[in-house]
Amino acid sequence: MSTEATQSTQEPVRPAPAGAHGYAADTDQPATDDTVAATDGSGSTDGAEVRHDPVGRVLPEFPEPALLAEHGPARIIAMCNQKGGVGKTTTTISLAAALAEYGRRVLVVDFDPQGAASVGLGINPNELDLTVYNAMMERDVDLHDVLRRTEVEGLDLVPANIDLSAAEVQLVGEVARESVLSRALRSVVDEYDVILVDCQPSLGLLTVNALTAAHGVMIPLECEFFALRGVALLVETIEKVRDRLNPRLEVDGILATMYDSRTLHAREVVQRVYEAFGDTLFHTVIGRTVKFPDASVAAEPITVYAPTHPGATAYRQLARELVARGDAA
Ligand SMILES: Nc1ncnc2c1ncn2[C@@H]1O[C@H](COP(=O)(O)OP(=O)(O)O)[C@@H](O)[C@H]1O
Ligand SMILES: [Mg+2]
Repeated sequence: MSTEATQSTQEPVRPAPAGAHGYAADTDQPATDDTVAATDGSGSTDGAEVRHDPVGRVLPEFPEPALLAEHGPARIIAMCNQKGGVGKTTTTISLAAALAEYGRRVLVVDFDPQGAASVGLGINPNELDLTVYNAMMERDVDLHDVLRRTEVEGLDLVPANIDLSAAEVQLVGEVARESVLSRALRSVVDEYDVILVDCQPSLGLLTVNALTAAHGVMIPLECEFFALRGVALLVETIEKVRDRLNPRLEVDGILATMYDSRTLHAREVVQRVYEAFGDTLFHTVIGRTVKFPDASVAAEPITVYAPTHPGATAYRQLARELVARGDAA
């Protein structure tokens, strides 16, 4: 075991209050005292239950957002972490579907040559002639020619496939190579309320394009010991892009994913993220559950695949939290 892990186990950890971490927990297992959202009796006012998030902050009620009278222009959010397997694609799909349920017009831009967001939304990108690659690299291809409706009402997709991996190299010789995605999005931005860009696990030119196009960045972090490794580099990249290319760019929030409330380990990791980043950490935490991989096999967002599962509920809460923070319409 490395020194980092050894040291981290020696750091004092404030215990989360009772009932703090049940709302987004996995229910694949029988509920234990720890996974049930219990009240400790101490926080009640007017008989209303006061709930806490996993780091002990009072969990606000995020109201159901009012329906929008008109749509657009979109706020563009890049889903970013150069580490793979942290929940970027799952969060993109699930949050997009949850926002669409609330009547938002949402566009998911698959910006990873692996095409996982496309597959997860039921579209096999390998059979497609036109993807985000063509809209970026070919002047006569408009994003409207590329985008597809999904089975979720109000949720559209710009697919990607392996072609996109060539863009990373080809873009190097382009004029304004960092703002190619931004330009491609211009033709659709007025038709959506939110555009979510699912980045590939790297900090290369494609990710810089996503950050240059975006108003905000969301950073999903897996609840495990080395989660914070690399975040400093990511934040540095975000700051460079803000200074040099996109002054409006802000960090919307850090999202703890794959959280298992039954382990001290996961609680420690979230606590450390909170100590490092404060209220940039979303109140909403996504529990670890096999329903997410199951939903991606079914090529459906969890809100469709298992609409009443806590995993779906958690992403609806994240959607409401995002709107409540003013980071989405
Ligand atoms: N909350 C979760 N609980 C359990 N498994 C998850 C969760 N979120 C994502 N996964 C699974 O973990 C894997 C990686 O997630 P993914 O969203 O593809 O990450 P990334 O896009 O960052 O590489 C996928 O198999 C996905 O189904
Ligand atoms: Mg992904």
